[in-house]
Amino acid sequence: MDHELECIGCHVHFPATETAYACLTCGELLEVVYNSDKLREAVDLSIWKSKTPSVWKYEELLPIKPASVKVTLGEGGTTLHKTARLGKLFGLNKLNVKNEGENPTGSFKDRGMTVGVTRAVEINSHRVICASTGNTSASLSAYAAKASVESIVIIPRGKIALGKLSQAIAHGARIIEIEGYFDDALRTVLDLVKSDPSLYLLNSVNPYRIEGQKTLAYEIWDQLEGDVPDTVVVPVGNAGNISAIWKGFQDLYMIGLISRLPRMIGIQAQGASPLSEAFKTGQSEMTPFQHPQTIATAIKIGAPASWKKALTAVKNSKGMMETVTDDEILESQKLLARLEGLFVEPASASSVAGLKKLVDLGSIGVDEKVICVVTGHGLKDPDIVYRSFEKPTVAKTDMQSLKLALNP
Ligand code: F0G
Repeated sequence: MDHELECIGCHVHFPATETAYACLTCGELLEVVYNSDKLREAVDLSIWKSKTPSVWKYEELLPIKPASVKVTLGEGGTTLHKTARLGKLFGLNKLNVKNEGENPTGSFKDRGMTVGVTRAVEINSHRVICASTGNTSASLSAYAAKASVESIVIIPRGKIALGKLSQAIAHGARIIEIEGYFDDALRTVLDLVKSDPSLYLLNSVNPYRIEGQKTLAYEIWDQLEGDVPDTVVVPVGNAGNISAIWKGFQDLYMIGLISRLPRMIGIQAQGASPLSEAFKTGQSEMTPFQHPQTIATAIKIGAPASWKKALTAVKNSKGMMETVTDDEILESQKLLARLEGLFVEPASASSVAGLKKLVDLGSIGVDEKVICVVTGHGLKDPDIVYRSFEKPTVAKTDMQSLKLALNP
């Protein structure tokens, strides 16, 4: 679909040929914008009905030329689980969990990466790069492999889960470990990209990635058969995903497919919650956390790059931000696994933990239609489960020892 790029700060427009990720006038982030009439004309519900669920089902609403070859691994179309047992425990009648861990590389990043890497190929870029807490690097390296382009990932040494690092290694990315946090890795990547135009940046500051990720909202609408949830709860790290989901719902509203918007609720880990802090104290600027701390390594981020977009999403949707402790995250990871059979990584469980907290506080009502987004598969970070949950029982194989082990 034809599009332009608009600065979220000074609203200057740039042509789609511009490869900068930030406004050339004021330095703020860019977003993809479409002509709203064309967007409306592009949608043909009978065509959507005939297609299987996937990111590319909504191709008409994505900033990619129809003739471009799509770099796809079969992303999107993740299950919206009816989670009655978890809902009952929390005191909610209408709780659904959207499990993004079902994506090809095990996280929601694939929605953005299929569009981002397709865009890279479209503009003839052969080297893609990102900073990552793990999942972005796993996804980037897989899609780069599929597209046959070089991938470079910069990660904070010793701070990403082994499952994710193994994915990037397996897919043949050039992996550079730096000292510091994700925020330092992102700064490094931004500096590199500025000095080497052959590198195409695929962090979520890239507006094309956000476009892929917005399809999560379209899918929720599709899976609810045209209904709108009251509340969508999302884990927040670098703050791209909550911004993207909000953009997706706004598209649906602009097209006329929905007549109201859900409220967006963002959850951060307590030790890495600059956005939540800004929201709760009513500040319009965010004060970064210099030393973010949490066991949820995917969202261990002190200075979320998309903080302005995310705060806008939360404020304009009449939503809120909340924080959860590491213990609450682990407890929710266990509950989801044991009540609903869904194994998610700690960052993903933060949305569940935040939901529980907000229901307990009375901020979410019993009959609200709630969608809790869980973002990454539990196998990404098995060590945390092994370290934190019950240990297996060691037993000898004679009947007496076995019976004791079965009935301690
Ligand atoms: N959940 C998981 C599993 C993640 O990997 C991330 C971010 C988030 C939630 C937060 O999403 O950044 O859009 O607010 N992971 C990034 C990475 C930072 O590098 O993989 P966000």
